[in-house]
Amino acid sequence: MVETKTMPVSGKKIFPLPRHVAIIMDGNGRWARRQGLPRLAGHRAGTDNVRRIVEAVDGYGVEYLTLYAFSTENWRRPGREVNGILHILAGMIDRETEALHKNNVKLSHLGRLDGLSPALKTKVLNAVELTKNNSGMTLCIAFDYGGRAEILDAVRRIVRDEVSPEKIDEALFGKYLYTADVPEPDLIIRTGGEMRLSNFLIWQAAYSEFYTTPTLWPDCTEEDIEKAFIAYSQRERRFGGIKDEGEAKTD
Ligand code: FPP
Repeated sequence: MVETKTMPVSGKKIFPLPRHVAIIMDGNGRWARRQGLPRLAGHRAGTDNVRRIVEAVDGYGVEYLTLYAFSTENWRRPGREVNGILHILAGMIDRETEALHKNNVKLSHLGRLDGLSPALKTKVLNAVELTKNNSGMTLCIAFDYGGRAEILDAVRRIVRDEVSPEKIDEALFGKYLYTADVPEPDLIIRTGGEMRLSNFLIWQAAYSEFYTTPTLWPDCTEEDIEKAFIAYSQRERRFGGIKDEGEAKTD
């Protein structure tokens, strides 16, 4: 029997739900400008929205949620903005880790840690360690994350491990990525209306469904997420094959 899930906002029954949802949280700067506020106020409002969306996505029974919080390219932003975001991350770990742990959420970090201060690096590692045995939703925070950097890091480790070329296939390569323990995202949602991946999970997104909403991240609600899930449930995923009509073919 096909298990449908009733959506709390629309009351619609849908199937299937994505197992792994990844979100590009874009639009904080535009949100701030529209309110006549500095960009950092937008990032603070965006941070306040993280809890609401994490709780909503967890409530749907999604197994993995990845949030793109800071890219390797975001270091190019003015120092004040970068320092502000680093400060926001530290505050968020301090405030939210205990509640996430109580809710059985497992925290994971995707990206590099070397660019962070030793104190912030320790905070991230401690939060991951504290929650590592939790069996609920896995929340991956992509921070100082870049898809190209991830692929290069994987190549460096493969070379260091002296893996013989004929042993390198997609499965082995995947095990060298930051996402070794995480399935590929089924659905990537981008807020703020742009239609690009911006170096996010570029290996893993090969067959992900993409959904964009014009809603700016600080304004993103459970309703926007639900619309994305409904759209996802109506997509036909073929992974390069053809529609299954009794006989699977990939030519
Ligand atoms: C994109 O908006 C947003 C960011 C670069 C930062 C996102 C960070 C947070 C929401 C806070 C930290 C969250 C966690 C989970 C640690 P933008 O500044 O590019 O917006 P714009 O396109 O309107 O200028």
